[in-house]
Amino acid sequence: MLSFPKNFLWGAATAAHQVEGQNFDNDWWDWEQTPGHIKNGDSSRVANDWWNGRFIEDFDRAQSLGHNAHRLSVEWSRLEPREGEWDNAAVARYREMLTALRERNIEPMVTLVHFTHPRWFMEKGGWLADNSPQILERHATRVVETFGDLCNVWITINEPNLYMVLNYVWKTRPPGTGSLTQGLRVARNIIIGHYRAYAAIHHLQSNAQVSLAHQWRWIAPAKKNSLLDRVVAWQSNYLTNEMFVRALTTGRMPTPLGRGEKIGDGKMPLDYFALNYYFQNRVTFDISRPGSVFARQLHSTWLKGTPFEEFSDAGDLAPDTFYQLLKMLARINLPIYITENGTFDIGYDNQSPYLVTHLRALHRAMQEGVKINGYYWWTLVDNFEWDAGYWLRFGLYHLDVETQTRTKRPVADTYAQIIRDNGIADELMKRFGV
Ligand code: BGC
Repeated sequence: MLSFPKNFLWGAATAAHQVEGQNFDNDWWDWEQTPGHIKNGDSSRVANDWWNGRFIEDFDRAQSLGHNAHRLSVEWSRLEPREGEWDNAAVARYREMLTALRERNIEPMVTLVHFTHPRWFMEKGGWLADNSPQILERHATRVVETFGDLCNVWITINEPNLYMVLNYVWKTRPPGTGSLTQGLRVARNIIIGHYRAYAAIHHLQSNAQVSLAHQWRWIAPAKKNSLLDRVVAWQSNYLTNEMFVRALTTGRMPTPLGRGEKIGDGKMPLDYFALNYYFQNRVTFDISRPGSVFARQLHSTWLKGTPFEEFSDAGDLAPDTFYQLLKMLARINLPIYITENGTFDIGYDNQSPYLVTHLRALHRAMQEGVKINGYYWWTLVDNFEWDAGYWLRFGLYHLDVETQTRTKRPVADTYAQIIRDNGIADELMKRFGV
């Protein structure tokens, strides 16, 4: 048995727009209205129907699996549908959600911005606007004033690195216009906003634990002995990982986000490192892709022959890379929370081996001194997977969107067993070939 420390946090992660349904006042809802933007014409209109109260039954499910932690987000466009107008009904709903988690002894972690923004915010330019950092600071203040009695673990923003690339460089997500230069401006403003929000939250709540969730896409050269592949891999890794981590750990704005100038008070605005990790990517030099700094991602080999073959961005399964990454992040000297990890179902129980091998890697890193406090599987119940609609399904439970029926997947039992044992049994490792 590979045991975990007492009080280790085990849970799942969700995001408002992906589970609530009826989220009609944000940029994603608007984006969904254009045919072709969402796979199979799917829509977030119902999603997991949490806004009608189905969060209760899903929190019961989480409890039945032994979860003692849950990461969720509060939808900014519900709380503040028009600038300066705070909606009391939405506040009441979120208070019910957070209370329902507490009643089940599930510790909430709340994200303030998980990919969606109020329509009014985007009309003002979104993160391109010079005053966007101040707007986030104001929002964070209001959220913590309103929910601070129910939560003290916060994530200001989810994955600004992916937001920069997907929304402004590749333009596959809203607003779907932009350039690398605009993407960098967006990233810069988000980082400044995070510094301000961090300070504002700590000013209000003495025991606050604040971070920003970074999805680390480990980028490796497709051919190790190709200099060009190594250069594009280094460059992509710098722009999507290193640059962000530097900006968040050194108190200074790195090139090309800035010229090394101090950000805020220059102190590291993180109380823990929030790591989202899924796959490893391999890139090769491609002259026809100047917009992506000449990097082309290779197709994922594990999806060959599955219905997901065309989903080329997924990357490769690489638990060893997860281990290496955790060892590398130890240099930051902060406790780490795995705020997202998981894989989608490809037609058989491929999720259990993913879970077991990644937890095995995590355990190994912990044995070697890396401090990790918790693990959140993405996600509890299949949900609205952004541009992939309901095509990619990451849930511990399968969802039938029409009937709203949930069906437990084998991975839910695997996870429940690990949580019950607070460790990985030898039998599980044997079964999943670790
Ligand atoms: C996001 C989630 C998303 C998940 C799986 C992460 O980038 O934070 O919202 O559903 O990946 O694709």
